[in-house]
Amino acid sequence: MLDAHLPDLPAARPAIAALPAYVPGARGAADAAPPVKLSSNESPDAPLPSVVEVLEGAARGINRYPDMGATDLTARIAREVGREASEVVVGAGSVAVLAHILQAYTGPGDEVMFAWRSFEAYPILARIAGAEPVMVPLTAEARHDLGAMAAAVTSHTRVIMLCSPNNPTGPTLSQAELDAFMASVPSRVLVVLDEAYLEYVRAEDVADGPASLDRYPNLVLLRTFSKAYGLAGLRVGYAVGPAALIAPVRACVTPFSVSGPAQIAAIASLDARDELEERAARVVAERTRVVEALRADGRDVPDAQGNFVWLAVGDATADLAGHLGSADPAVLVRPFVGEGVRVTIGAPAENDAFLARLATWERPA
Ligand SMILES: Cc1ncc(COP(=O)(O)O)c(C=O)c1O
Repeated sequence: MLDAHLPDLPAARPAIAALPAYVPGARGAADAAPPVKLSSNESPDAPLPSVVEVLEGAARGINRYPDMGATDLTARIAREVGREASEVVVGAGSVAVLAHILQAYTGPGDEVMFAWRSFEAYPILARIAGAEPVMVPLTAEARHDLGAMAAAVTSHTRVIMLCSPNNPTGPTLSQAELDAFMASVPSRVLVVLDEAYLEYVRAEDVADGPASLDRYPNLVLLRTFSKAYGLAGLRVGYAVGPAALIAPVRACVTPFSVSGPAQIAAIASLDARDELEERAARVVAERTRVVEALRADGRDVPDAQGNFVWLAVGDATADLAGHLGSADPAVLVRPFVGEGVRVTIGAPAENDAFLARLATWERPA
């Protein structure tokens, strides 16, 4: 009855109402003991003192808008990757940069292709842009099926996302795989190589992003300060590619979205690259230890090249996540119900807590 009196209300686009939810890693309850938080692929280390110091200075200037074009940071990144500033675009996290790429290059009637399962933001961002996500299943080894992806290209395909290492499963793409794929994809299709976990990669044959930019005029790299650079909470990421491809992305960036503290902390982090690489090396050593322990225990773990491991426990996923989460303190991981559990590599004691709790888990019959 009441409905008859309600006015017509603004309606969002149907694509927005149908969006899958982005599920962030669990954070733990405020009133419980601090959890072992292995749910969001973050760095386990507190920010570097040199980064905290510049942030304290930057905090005193936040009554001013930041440099909208992030000029100094863009120039610094360009120097770091051996390109021109016109070939770099900075955004509020690489997820925002990807959203801008999709806004610039796709719309209704277009297809955005990626492997699945991969980073859960991909289908959401594709739909927000109005495009249709095309998800190509991973192989049995949890790797991109590049043959199937090349075969799935249609006249509507505008952007293809490649995730190396793939979140949440771990394997990288080799240079030979990328070369064969780029040769089989029309040059009108934009290929985005998401290298969010680059600093943790130890696979010798991994595709070399910057070198590949010289070879492929339709390739763009996506990178972030959130993982090995430890700035997840500040939100800075970037894309690198040919200037003509980057300019439309820059036009889509929300004005002033990268804060002054974020810009200055990212520069300080690039200045402290050696220290941060040392930290990443410690995570890699822990990853090796955890993977070896899991395999020694008879568990099947795909090649882990990021700061996380993947346990494809299928229909036991919710049970395993629940068992880990009910430890004291809780061990928080990222479950993908029906598929598996992604566990971030943390500090050694955190990884021990995960392994110890896992050892007490019995898979339900
Ligand atoms: C593959 C991949 N790309 C991009 C991102 C986004 O990172 P950010 O927006 O923090 O830069 C993530 C974060 O988890 C990721 O896993």
